[in-house]
Amino acid sequence: MSQSALSLDIALLKKYIVDADLEAQQTRVTTAHSRLMNKTCMGHDFLGWIHLPWRIESELDRIQNIAAEIQDNADHLIIIGIGGSYLGARAAIEFLADPFLRNDKVLYFGHHLGSDYTASFLDYVMQKNVYINVISKSGTTTEPAVSFRLLRHMLSGKYSQDELARRIITTTDVSSGILREMTNSANYRSFAIQDDIGGRFSVLSPVGLLPIAVAGFDIEAIVAGARDMAQACANESGILENDALKYAAARYALYQKGKCVEVFSTFEPGAYFIAEWWKQLFGESEGKEHKGIFPTSATLTTDLHSLGQFMQEGSRILFETFLTIGKSRFDIVIPTINSDADKLNFVAGQTVEFVNQQAYVGTKYAHFDGDLPNMTVELSERNEYALGQLFYFFEFAVAISGLLLGINPFNQPGVEAYKQNMFALLGKDGYEERKSVLDKQINGE
Ligand code: PA5
Repeated sequence: MSQSALSLDIALLKKYIVDADLEAQQTRVTTAHSRLMNKTCMGHDFLGWIHLPWRIESELDRIQNIAAEIQDNADHLIIIGIGGSYLGARAAIEFLADPFLRNDKVLYFGHHLGSDYTASFLDYVMQKNVYINVISKSGTTTEPAVSFRLLRHMLSGKYSQDELARRIITTTDVSSGILREMTNSANYRSFAIQDDIGGRFSVLSPVGLLPIAVAGFDIEAIVAGARDMAQACANESGILENDALKYAAARYALYQKGKCVEVFSTFEPGAYFIAEWWKQLFGESEGKEHKGIFPTSATLTTDLHSLGQFMQEGSRILFETFLTIGKSRFDIVIPTINSDADKLNFVAGQTVEFVNQQAYVGTKYAHFDGDLPNMTVELSERNEYALGQLFYFFEFAVAISGLLLGINPFNQPGVEAYKQNMFALLGKDGYEERKSVLDKQINGE
């Protein structure tokens, strides 16, 4: 049992945090760890993710069988979902896929309400042979619900009622919600999201694993990586021995020193959606009661030419977590050109990966010198097993981190505010009072 594919290096926090700062938190971390593992912490009804890498095993065959059917019979699987109901799958698929050609077996819909995109998307998929996986735990989230209705309506002109029903797979609450009712009455095939698993902790459930399997990746290896990480995280409550705890404790120590923005920096475009998944996980888990570290991200070296100036010399509210990958899949060597007209022979013979690594090392010391404390999460390889370790590592770390902040990491009450206003503005029954308050605000009264 190990955290073998993932390691955390905090050496460049040293101007801000020494071992004594971390050790000073050991008692609080031990309490958080034991409350989490004993299920006595805040939000203890939502801890199903802790043992998910074991619980999911009995469902893997069914997930893989349906994935194989979709691979054989469809140009695309359209996943309809937003937030935790789609980001994990997208993070995995884009990370594991060919970085340039990507993987278009899975298409994403229902994660925004952009009208032009929606029209163009529907136009495209009408020409294709598609299956749909609509993912919504509550079954009431507006963006995916509207998108599902639009897609059903369009596709009902293309497929018979029975054929359309055969092509729809729902992933929703075990027994309640509108999507579960629709599933039962239309006889859709379905996967259940257990009551004790929240959206952003659901990537290792059918929410994430069905789309990932359809995209052709090895979900058993992802689950194996997560299982090994889960075991390591459960067994060890020492900050210096358990990297997930060390990461949570280091973030908390930085927060106490006024560092309230964390930049998650990657050096691979394919990790862009890992950062998006990470931002949702940390933002929605921690940002409560006017507390928390604001999570943001940068793709380097690209963003060194946009955000780099601020990171190096702007307000000193930031700290940075790099995600690096130990070994690229492909080596590409920069050629020697005798004329050296572009004066680049000093890197001739080196791989692009080597140059990228020097960019990382150069950046982390430049940021360190500029009083931007940073740490590095390194994945040994870009593969399914390592990714499973990464998913579980950050889930465990954010749980501890939220408990250190004294908030419930497993709810998201703040997400309701915009929904209430939107429902009121759209005239949904039951929102009349809210509508009259809004009308006054809008009219400047
Ligand atoms: O992490 C969460 O709980 C949220 O981001 C949800 O996943 C998101 O709001 C979508 O909710 P639902 O699956 O109910 O449609």
